[in-house]
Amino acid sequence: MRVFVAGATGAIGKQLVPRLVEAGHEVHGMTRSESKQAMLSELGAVPVVADALDPDQVAEAVGKARPDVIVHQLTAIGSLDPRHFDRDFAMTNRLRTEGTDHLLSAGQAVGVRRFVAQSYGAWPYARTGGPVKSEEDPLDPAPAREMRESLAAIRHLEQAVLGARWTVGIVLRYGAFYGPGTSGAPGGEQFELVRRRKFPLVGDGGGVWSFIHIADAAEATVAAVEHGNSGVYNVVDDDPAPVAEWLPVLAQKLGAKKPVRVPRVVGRLFAGEAGVVMMTELRGASNAKAKRELAWRPAHPSWRDGFAA
Ligand SMILES: NC(=O)c1ccc[n+]([C@@H]2O[C@H](COP(=O)([O-])OP(=O)(O)OC[C@H]3O[C@@H](n4cnc5c(N)ncnc54)[C@H](OP(=O)(O)O)[C@@H]3O)[C@@H](O)[C@H]2O)c1
Repeated sequence: MRVFVAGATGAIGKQLVPRLVEAGHEVHGMTRSESKQAMLSELGAVPVVADALDPDQVAEAVGKARPDVIVHQLTAIGSLDPRHFDRDFAMTNRLRTEGTDHLLSAGQAVGVRRFVAQSYGAWPYARTGGPVKSEEDPLDPAPAREMRESLAAIRHLEQAVLGARWTVGIVLRYGAFYGPGTSGAPGGEQFELVRRRKFPLVGDGGGVWSFIHIADAAEATVAAVEHGNSGVYNVVDDDPAPVAEWLPVLAQKLGAKKPVRVPRVVGRLFAGEAGVVMMTELRGASNAKAKRELAWRPAHPSWRDGFAA
């Protein structure tokens, strides 16, 4: 098939493109930068230069590639201060709203058969009931104040993709990425915070996180490009775990001292409501549906071993 990957040069894109090429697909990879075209060619893709926020450029790029499938992996996350979550996600939120709409319009114009888009499964679920959520469970009706715009953007993306009845719309709710090229790698921003004891354990550390190795996320995406019905799929590992469990293990693997423990009230001062929610109230996600319907299995079933890989 001809597959158009928006976000082909990013953490997930760099893992995804070579796998799609290896599987025999003709990949068209989008970037804003003329200078990244050579990298895309090396990955095996036909480079396409366009700005995802410019509807005419997107329509032209997709129109030229005439893909069977579009994959939307556009984000612009950078470093994150949870006190200013929505501010730091502002550009990603535009890519999830305007960017999604432009890609869908361009895809409809050329009649793409499938549209696969990146969503997130590691913080948006409602913080009530059991610790591990399926795709049927509701998203948070009352997110922390600093996360409202970001959750609204996720909802927009999901509703737009699932509502596109002219194609097979697939939403992949990835867990928190770790592994090569992500902030969850030795030297990466998140792992460095843990190594330097700047990622404290807040309150009881009861927030449940779902992780996914970046290579497993890419494998699941290839599966979604090739088969699977329209719908939402959690793409997470087999081992959702509370912060109080994974953070000390990660610190030890990074050769760091035990994480600092701070009460909720202190956590709120330094990380805001969003930070406290993430450390104490999040729910994890179940990958049962992705395993069943995408015939996918994570090669790194648990962060316990994956963090060391
Ligand atoms: N589930 C998760 O945990 C999750 C999800 C996403 C990201 N992350 C993490 O966040 C960190 C940084 O990610 P990131 O989002 O900053 O960057 P990234 O991984 O470098 O990916 C961003 C991609 O979006 C493209 N892009 C952004 N704005 C665009 C625009 N206006 N037009 C066209 N393409 C555009 C970029 O292309 P060009 O720059 O080539 O134009 C690039 O291919 C990484 O550590 C990653 O692992 C985690």
